[in-house]
Order: sequence, then C-alpha cells, then structure tokens
Amino acid sequence: MVHQRAKIEALPAYVQGKSLPDAVKLSSNENPYPPLESVLQATHERLSRFNLYPDMGAIELRERIAARHGVRLEEVSVGAGSVEVLSQLINASADEGDEVIFAWRSFEAYPILIQVAGAEPVRVPLTADERHDLDAMAAAVTERTRLILICTPNNPTGTTVHADELERFMAKVPEDVLVVIDEAYVHFDNDPKSVDGLDFFRRYPNIAVLHTFSKAYGLAGLRVGYAIAPERVTTNLRRVAVPFGVNDLAQTAAIASLDAEDELNARVELLVAERARVLAAMREQGWKPVDSLGNFIWLRTGEHTPAVDEALRAGGVIARAYGVDGLRVTIGDPAMNDTFLAALATITPVA
Ligand SMILES: Cc1ncc(COP(=O)(O)O)c(C=O)c1O
Repeated sequence: MVHQRAKIEALPAYVQGKSLPDAVKLSSNENPYPPLESVLQATHERLSRFNLYPDMGAIELRERIAARHGVRLEEVSVGAGSVEVLSQLINASADEGDEVIFAWRSFEAYPILIQVAGAEPVRVPLTADERHDLDAMAAAVTERTRLILICTPNNPTGTTVHADELERFMAKVPEDVLVVIDEAYVHFDNDPKSVDGLDFFRRYPNIAVLHTFSKAYGLAGLRVGYAIAPERVTTNLRRVAVPFGVNDLAQTAAIASLDAEDELNARVELLVAERARVLAAMREQGWKPVDSLGNFIWLRTGEHTPAVDEALRAGGVIARAYGVDGLRVTIGDPAMNDTFLAALATITPVA
C-alpha cells in the first residue's frame, strides 16, 4: 500500500451542504439571488481569454480592495475563497504541534485546516447564549499558541463578538500571536456593538481580517476571498499559496461586484429584513432561536436534531444538521423562507 499521512487519513472530510431536486436548499449560507447582470456581462467579456493564466498577483483586484478599505496594496492577499486564505494563514503561522484556538461550534473547516497543517486545534466551547467565551479563549493561550480565530458573526450560531469585549481580549493576547477575525458574514451584521475588524487591524499589529465575495457579493461558485493583514504576513501568504489560485473570471467578477456595491447592498438589506421576519415567525411558532446577525439562523435542537432535520426535509427544505448539536438554516428569498416556515410549523418546538 502506498504511504499516506496517518493524520490526514484520520480527518473527517469537509461536508458540503446537501441539495436534493425539488427541495429548497438552505444548507450552505449561499446568496439566493442570481448573479447581477453587470457582473455576468463583465465575466462574459473575459471568457475568450481563458487559454491564458490569470494575473498571479491579482493586482487590480487587490488595488480595488485596498482602496475600498483604506489599506495598502501590500496588506491585501487574495485566495480561492476566504477558506483558502485561512488555510494559508494557518500554514504560514503554525508549525507541527503548535496550537490554534477557536470557539466551538464555529466554522466546520477550522479544525480540519488546522490538522492538515499539522497543528493542534484547541476548541473553546461557546457560552450558554451561543457566543464566543473570550475569557476562556484568553485562558487557553499557551506558549504554543500561534493563531486565534474569531468568527463574527459566528457560523453557525449567528452571534457576534462586541468591540469592547475584543478590546479587553486583545489586552491579554501576546503580541506574537496572530488574531484572525473571520468576517465572512459581516455585511449582514447590523449591530453597532459588533467588532469592526478593519478598525482592530489599524490599531493592533497582530490582527488579520478575512472577508469573502461568496456571501453578500454572491460569488460563492467563483471562489474568491481575501485577508487584510500586516505586510509581513501577506508576504508569507503568497509564499504558501498555490500559484494562480484565483482565476481570471473570479478576479473580474470580484472587481465588477465592487463596482455594483449599491445594488448588492440592496439585496443584503432584503435578506436582513427576511431574517427579522423569519426569526419573528419562528418565535411565534414557539421556537426560541438566538438573534442572528448572519444570513442564517441557528436552532440548538440537541438530540432531536436528526428528527427535526428529517421533518424539514419532508417539508421540502434542506437545512444543515450538526450531529446532535443543532441545525442551521440559511435565509433565502421570501418564497424559500415561507417554505421553511411552513415545514417548521409541522414540528413540535424543541429548541
Ligand atoms: C465563517 C466562514 N468563514 C469562511 C468561509 C469560507 O467562505 P469562502 O471560502 O467561500 O470565502 C465560510 C463559508 O461558509 C464561513 O462560514
């Protein structure tokens, strides 16, 4: 038998949100709206060039992102989705046996990427109200800690870290530990108390911020995300990156999306309004979801999770079930959300 790394063979594979014909797919936190006409047009014009390699440095896109956030080009690094940039951050920061701290539950990919890099995942349980336990996370720091991941809004619970809480946390974190603020869902967050990652990036030397074009910008299928990080870090991200990882269509679509932010923001506002409507309707049915600031809602259904998942599926809805912890349901367009609410209404509330 060929040799393979035992640590890799022991890992669970990342599981994609399920989809079934005729069911409403609310399992991957995707944007339900189709690509904008202007973005389609821009990418269409580039189709005839795909015999050529893309710009490896993604200079134009990085310049646009830098201008958008008021940072330097050298502080922006792009990847094939923010998950790829996160993988680069871990590879650039953590050696074999080093530790990476994150809240749990949080984004499923975290423990997988950390272990692929040979590092040790350190999961710190969420508080009873589904939020990051920053005191416990600070207490988990050891001399092997290289990276701390803060997911705000947190996938799958939708809760955010508040700016004053992160300020107190940063005072306890050694300056040689990089704190990554994963803001994949930041555009859906309308709570003024929440952390603004870029503000922390400007004030601390050990902050990296992760953003993605997959969610609010609706480019999940094209794969493009980025980090804003200190120049020394972004230089290393490019060292560990697979060359030409962000293809030409993705770069083009991301630039066209930055040109169309007003139109995209209008869609985000629709989703935020739908989130409020769905939360209210769920509570009216007797469910008790925590408030969410992402484009999804979390239900801690515990041992009932498989049964609730099954009942939703019978009602034509695919949610994302997490073992016996709970279920996450993406906010879709109004018709999709109505299908979800109708399916949920057939189930006795258990969370
Ligand atoms: C918290 C979080 N971060 C990052 C990502 C990665 O998104 P992408 O790789 O599409 O940019 C996701 C995707 O679901 C996510 O939930």
